[in-house]
Amino acid sequence: MEETDNLETEERKFRPPDDFVKNANINDPEIYRKADEDLEAFWRGLAEEIKWFRGFDSVLEWEPPHAKWFTGGKLNASYNCLDANIEKRGDKLAIIWEGENRDIRKYTYGELLEETSRLANVLKGMGVKKGDIVTIYLPMIPEIIISMLACARIGAPHSVVFAAFSGEALCTRIADAQSDLVITCDGYYRRGKLVEQKKKADCGLTSCIKVQKVVVVKNTKNDIEMREGRDVWWHDLMRDAGTVCEPEVMDSEDMLFLMYTSGTTGKPKGIVHSTGGYMVGTHVTAKWIFDLKDDDIYWCTADCGWITGHSYIVYGPLSNGTTVLMYEGAPDYPEKDRFWDIVERHKATILYTAPTAIRTFMKWGNKWPAKHDLSTLRLLGSVGEPINPDAWLWYHENIGSGRCPIVDTWWQTETGMVLISPLPGITTTKPGSATLPFPGIRATVLDENGNEMPPGKDGLLAITRPWPSMVRTIHGDEERFIETYWTKWDRNTYFAGDGAKLDEEGYFRISGRVDDVIQVSGHRIGTEEVESLLVSHPSVAEAGVVGKSDEIKGEVIYGYVILRSGLSGDNELKNELIDHVASNIGPFARPKRIIFSEELPKTRSGKIMRRVLKAIANGRETGDVTTLQDPGVVEELKRRTEENGLI
Ligand code: WTA
Repeated sequence: MEETDNLETEERKFRPPDDFVKNANINDPEIYRKADEDLEAFWRGLAEEIKWFRGFDSVLEWEPPHAKWFTGGKLNASYNCLDANIEKRGDKLAIIWEGENRDIRKYTYGELLEETSRLANVLKGMGVKKGDIVTIYLPMIPEIIISMLACARIGAPHSVVFAAFSGEALCTRIADAQSDLVITCDGYYRRGKLVEQKKKADCGLTSCIKVQKVVVVKNTKNDIEMREGRDVWWHDLMRDAGTVCEPEVMDSEDMLFLMYTSGTTGKPKGIVHSTGGYMVGTHVTAKWIFDLKDDDIYWCTADCGWITGHSYIVYGPLSNGTTVLMYEGAPDYPEKDRFWDIVERHKATILYTAPTAIRTFMKWGNKWPAKHDLSTLRLLGSVGEPINPDAWLWYHENIGSGRCPIVDTWWQTETGMVLISPLPGITTTKPGSATLPFPGIRATVLDENGNEMPPGKDGLLAITRPWPSMVRTIHGDEERFIETYWTKWDRNTYFAGDGAKLDEEGYFRISGRVDDVIQVSGHRIGTEEVESLLVSHPSVAEAGVVGKSDEIKGEVIYGYVILRSGLSGDNELKNELIDHVASNIGPFARPKRIIFSEELPKTRSGKIMRRVLKAIANGRETGDVTTLQDPGVVEELKRRTEENGLI
C-alpha cells in the first residue's frame, strides 16, 4: 500500500483550543469508554434526539451481516428535518443558496417545510406511492433538497444521480432502481457555460421506457423540448399544490434512499440506507463532529449527488436545525477566491471540503484567501480522500489562521455516517490522520488473514461492530452485498476496501483504496466502468484502467489500450477515446492519459493484472511477475508509460 505523502515525518500535534473545548457540544473524553462498554445504552440515549411517532422496541438486532436498528420505531426523516424545527426555528434560515452568477435564494425552516409539502402533494398526485423509487437528477439548486425531503415525506426512497453524470449513466441507474419518475431541470451554469441537463436526460431516457413522468425545474432561460404527456414543468405543478402534507409514518428499517456508487465491477451498486438508523447516525455525528450550534452558518462544499451531500448537507445538519450554506458553482468562478468571497459575505463559521480542493487552493496561492476576512470560521473539515500533512497544515494556517480545529472525517457511501474522525472538543489532532473511531465504533487494521497489524504496519481497514447508519444491502443484489463487504474475514467484520495503519497511540492513517476503485478528486470511479467503455469503442480490443497518484486530484485515470488489429494509434484517437469516456460517464471520469500497447500484463488464465499495471503507471516496482503469461510485457509498458508524454 502506498504512502500518500511524507506521513512519517510530520509529528506535530494540535490540541483543541481551550475555549473551543469549553463550549463544545461534546467535550467529555469519558464518552468513548461509556459508548464502548454499553453500545446499546449509548445509541438508545442518542436516539432520543430524534422524533419518533412510535418508540422503538429494541436498539439493535444483529444477525451478521444483517443489522436492524431501532426496530419497531416509527418516524419520518423529513419530519425530523422540518416539522421538528418549526416551533423553535420556524423563521430561522434553513438554506442560504448562492448561484454561480451570485443570485441568492433563502429559505426559512417554515418556507422549506411549505415547499417540501407542496412537492410531496404534487408527487402523490402523480401517483407516487410509499416504496416507489424517485430519481433526482438535479444540480446544486435548492430544488434538489426540496425533492429529497419531499420524497422522504411520502416514503418514496430517492435515488439522486450526480448532475454531471451522462444520460447513459443516468439511465443505468434508473433501470436498476426501476424508477418511473425523474426530477430534473432544463439546464445549469458551470463556469459561466450552460450545461444542457434536460438534453442529457432525454438522451438517457430514450432507452428507459419505464419512465412515465419527468418533472422539470426551470432554472435557466434556455429553450428545451418538453415531451408531450411525459414532461411537466415543476412550477406548473407547484402553483396550485396544497401546502400541507402529512408525513408518512415509516418503519425504522424502511429504505430512506438509494445511492449508487462504484465498486469493483462495471455495474454501479445501489447502496440501500434505512430511515431510523441513518437519521440517528447522521444527526449525532453532525452535531458532535461539526459541533453544530444555533448561530452557525455551516458550509459543506460537497454535491447532494454524493453521500456527503445526503448526510452532511441535508439530513444531519437540517435535523439539527442548522443554517446550511449551499453554492451552485465552481471554486474559480469568476476568480480563484470565490470560496473565500462566499465565506466572508455569508459569514460562514464551519467549512467542510475535500483534500483535492485544498490542494488546488494551495497551488493557486495564499493571496486568494488572504484577500478576505475569514475570521468567522471556527471549525474546518475534510472528507473524501486522504489529506496529506502539507495540505492539512496549509488549511490550518491559511484558512483556519491556526485557531480552527480540523476534523478529517473518514467514511463511505456504505457507512452513511462518519466513522473515524476527531471530536473537535476532545481530540488532539495530527496532520494526515483521521484520528480515532467515533464513540461506539470499533475499527482495526488487519492483514489478509484477519490478524491485527501492529502499529506502523500497513494493512486493511476493518470495522468490527455494527453502527446505526450502515448499508443494509445492495439494491437487488444481496449476494454482492455479502460478497463485497462481509466475506473478506468473517461476517462480523466489515471490509472497507481501504488500506490503513495505526500509530503508537492508536490513531488511524488511511492510505486509500486497495480494490479496483479509483478516487479522482474524491469521486469514486470503478476501473471496470471505464474499461468497458473503452472497449465499447470500435477501435479498441482490450483495455486496462488504473489509478495513478496525482499531487492535486489524489488520483487520475490511466488507460492502457490494445487497439484492434491493423489499427495504429495516434493523438487524435487518444483524444477521441478520452472524450468517449467523458461523455459516456461524465467529465469527472475523463482519463488523464491513454497509452497504446501491443499487450497487457495478464495471468495465464488471461486476466488483466491491474496490480502490475498500477505499479507501472505509478513508476513503482512491479513485484512478483512470474505468474504473468509474458513477463516481458512489463518492460515494454514501462517504456511506453515513460516515453509517452504526448497526453
Ligand atoms: C475515501 C465519501 C482518507 C476512502 C464520504 C473511502 C477517505 C472512500 C476519507 C469513500 C478520509 C473518504 N481519509 N480517505 N478522511 N474520506 N475517503 O463512498 O477511500 O464517495 O473508501 O464516500 O473515500 O468514498 P465515498
